[in-house]
Amino acid sequence: MTARPVSGVHLTGWGAYAPSLVLTNADLEKMVDTSDEWIVSRTGIRERHIAGPNETTASMAAVAGLRAIATAGLQPDDIDLILVGTLTPDYPMPSTAALVKGAIGNKRAAAMDLAAACSGFVFGYATAHAYVASGMAKHVLVIGAETLSRCTDFTDRGTCILFGDGAGAAVLSASDEPGGTLGIEMTTEPSGAYFIWLPAGGASRPTGEASIAAGEHYMKMKGTETFKMAVRTLGSTATKSLAKAGIGLADLDLVIPHQANLRIIEGLAKSLDFPMEKVFVNVGSYGNTSAASVPLALSEAVAAGRVKKGDRLLLVAFGAGLTSGAITLEWTADPAAAARAAGIGPADVSVMPGYLEPVNPFPPALEWVRAGAASPTTTP
Ligand code: UT7
Repeated sequence: MTARPVSGVHLTGWGAYAPSLVLTNADLEKMVDTSDEWIVSRTGIRERHIAGPNETTASMAAVAGLRAIATAGLQPDDIDLILVGTLTPDYPMPSTAALVKGAIGNKRAAAMDLAAACSGFVFGYATAHAYVASGMAKHVLVIGAETLSRCTDFTDRGTCILFGDGAGAAVLSASDEPGGTLGIEMTTEPSGAYFIWLPAGGASRPTGEASIAAGEHYMKMKGTETFKMAVRTLGSTATKSLAKAGIGLADLDLVIPHQANLRIIEGLAKSLDFPMEKVFVNVGSYGNTSAASVPLALSEAVAAGRVKKGDRLLLVAFGAGLTSGAITLEWTADPAAAARAAGIGPADVSVMPGYLEPVNPFPPALEWVRAGAASPTTTP
């Protein structure tokens, strides 16, 4: 890595991956006391994607990453640094980023994970920006990837209706052309640290029989508190990012927010007095995929023709911590470049070079639910 500062940092590649298994609200009605009507009206979610038996965070991240590299017109070895934002790494160690490096066949990059929960991709983008802007890296691969289904309590209707699995990625590259990243804002508010948390599995509460019996290996959430803080924080983070970029809300062509809940997104738009027509929403098809949510939405927005050269975008997220981050950028890539990524897949650990296959296959969540299991983690 060199260290010559550059003037511009551009998003040159993007890509995403979602598992083919789909968990619908009708499936959830069989598992917990809920209804499609309640879920749609309170969250806007109709279905979410669930990792299959041979899919992990690393395998999905690798496919999204390869798609982003191909879209950028690069080879895996052009990447100097790989960052994976995730709260569901394959293991506490090695990092998921190290497994992704092996899977994509990169021989040169430094690779590390980044723990900022649902803000993981946006915080990763900010970190990548700093590396590229300082001249320490020319091309950085930033990925947000999650397998939330493996730490979701499918007996808790307050959380299991929300979350899904998937991955999204971007390549940030040095360039002296105008445009690219314009303004970055990041915050962390620890007074909300336990609003969303996963109690067991860390140094404070190592996983054991007692923690498993207490269900502490599953995500816990104070939904209402999180909801209120999310709307407030998203608005202030977005506004500060725009101020740093030196532009106003009226200059934005598209906002791509973290897809947690349609009502949170609408609350954000209302608090900013910003039109929903300029806000990209795909929470209905994916649920909340945490760190994967913003880059998955970005890839879909580009594929849907919602982004063109010269557009000004705002990416804004919040998550456990409570973290929040926003990026204002001017899009300079050719949206049609995504076609270069056609045919890259599948996200199967058994085809990942060097990956140690799990001793027990992962629970085939969806098949078991449909076969009448009480939850995806119990056999029918
Ligand atoms: O990436 C960040 C992660 N987290 C979030 O973004 C979550 C933020 N929070 C939320 O999205 C919302 O708070 C939820 C969707 C989780 C809950 O919606 P809410 O409008 O805040 O509902 P609530 O928790 O206030 O519950 C209202 C009622 C309660 O019943 P009672 O006490 O009024 O009789 C709940 O027990 O709805 C009940 N309820 C449900 N009913 C049917 C809660 N979950 C469900 C459910 N189905 N799945």
